[in-house]
Amino acid sequence: MTKQIQNKTSIPMLDLKAQYLPIKEEIKIALKEIIESGQFVLGPNVKSFENEAQSYHNVNSAVGLASGTDALHLSLKALDIKESDEVITTPFTFIATAESICYVGAKPVFVDVNKNTMNINVSKIEEKITSKTKAIIVVHLFGQPADMNEIMALATKYNLRVIEDSAQAFGAKYNGIKVGSIGDAGCFSFYPSKNLGAYGDGGMMITNNPDICKKVQLLRNHGTVGPYQHSFIGYNSRLDEIQAAILRIKLRNIDIYNQKRSSTAKIYSSILNGSVQCPVEMDDRTHVYHQYTIRTPLRDRISSALKESGISSVVYYPIPLHLQEAFKYLGYSEGDLPESEAAANEVLSLPIYPELEPETAKLIAKTILDIIKG
Ligand SMILES: Cc1ncc(COP(=O)(O)O)c(C=O)c1O
Repeated sequence: MTKQIQNKTSIPMLDLKAQYLPIKEEIKIALKEIIESGQFVLGPNVKSFENEAQSYHNVNSAVGLASGTDALHLSLKALDIKESDEVITTPFTFIATAESICYVGAKPVFVDVNKNTMNINVSKIEEKITSKTKAIIVVHLFGQPADMNEIMALATKYNLRVIEDSAQAFGAKYNGIKVGSIGDAGCFSFYPSKNLGAYGDGGMMITNNPDICKKVQLLRNHGTVGPYQHSFIGYNSRLDEIQAAILRIKLRNIDIYNQKRSSTAKIYSSILNGSVQCPVEMDDRTHVYHQYTIRTPLRDRISSALKESGISSVVYYPIPLHLQEAFKYLGYSEGDLPESEAAANEVLSLPIYPELEPETAKLIAKTILDIIKG
C-alpha cells in the first residue's frame, strides 16, 4: 500500500514538497550562487529564463514579470487598450483576467462559455463586438486550449488584438503550437500552484511583436530608457533572480510534469466517465491539466463526502465574474450567461499534481463512484 493511501485522511490538491525533493540539490546550488552574487533583480537568471522560455515557445521574445496579472495588464497597455475601449473575455475564469481590463480603464464584455470545455464560446463572440471592441482575452481554462483558429479568424475580420491568458496552460498545444504564441501576446502566471510554479509570485509575457516586447520591457521597469531616465510612467513589475532560477530548473521538467498530469487525468476519466462530465480530450490540442475538473449536479454532495474521507477538492469557480460584486457596475443579471452559471454550480476540481500516485488517483475516483451510488 502506498504512503498516500495509508495516509488517506489527507490527500491534498497539490504537493509542492514532493515536486521540490527531486530538484532540491539543484535549487540549493542556484540559490547559493544568487545570494553570493548579490544580484537579485533583472540579472542573468531572468535573462536566461527569458531565452529558454522564448525557445520553448518558439517565439521572438519573452519578458519576465512580477505576476500573471501584471503580464495581462502590461500587455493591454502595450497594445494601447484604454478608456472607452471594450475587451471581450470569459466570465468563467480567475478575476485577474478581467481585472487587468479595468486597470487600463477599459470595459470587460463577458461572453458565455462552452458546456464541454468551459472555455469561451466562439459562436457567441461576434454578437458582442461593437465599434468600441479592441481586443479579446482568451483563457485556456484549466490547461485546455481554447478555439484559437476561430478566435484568430474573428480577430482578423474585426481588426482585434488577441491576448492569450495562458496562466493555467504552460506547455499546452493547439494544432502542435504552444499556447501563448498564437495571439499578439501570451501571458503566464508562475504562482506556486500553477503547472509551472515559482516559490513566490512571478509572470511572463511572450510575443512575436518587437514593439510589444519593447513596450512591456519598459513598462515593467518604470519606463526606464537609461540611468534615471524615464520615457513614460511605468511600473515595478520585475521578475526576481531567485524565482527565475527556480523556474529555469522546473522548465527543464515541465513536459514530464505535464505528461504525468495527463496520465493522472486518464486514470480519473477511465473510472469516472459516464458517471460525471469529465474533461474533454480533443484531437487538435493537448490539455495540460493544471486542473482536472469534473461536472456533476451532485457536486456539493461529492465535495462534502470527499472532505469527510480526507480527500481535498476545490470549486474553481463558484461565482462567474459577471455576477461578482466587483463587476456589479457592468449591469449583468443572473441568467445572462447561463452556461457559465451552470458551470459554477456543477464544477469540482480534484487533486492533480505530477507526483500523485496512480493508486491514489484510482482511490479518489472510486470514492467518488461510491458517493454517487450513495
Ligand atoms: C486564468 C488566470 N489568469 C490570471 C491569473 C493571475 O496570475 P497571478 O496570480 O500570477 O497574478 C491567474 C492566476 O491565478 C489565472 O488562473
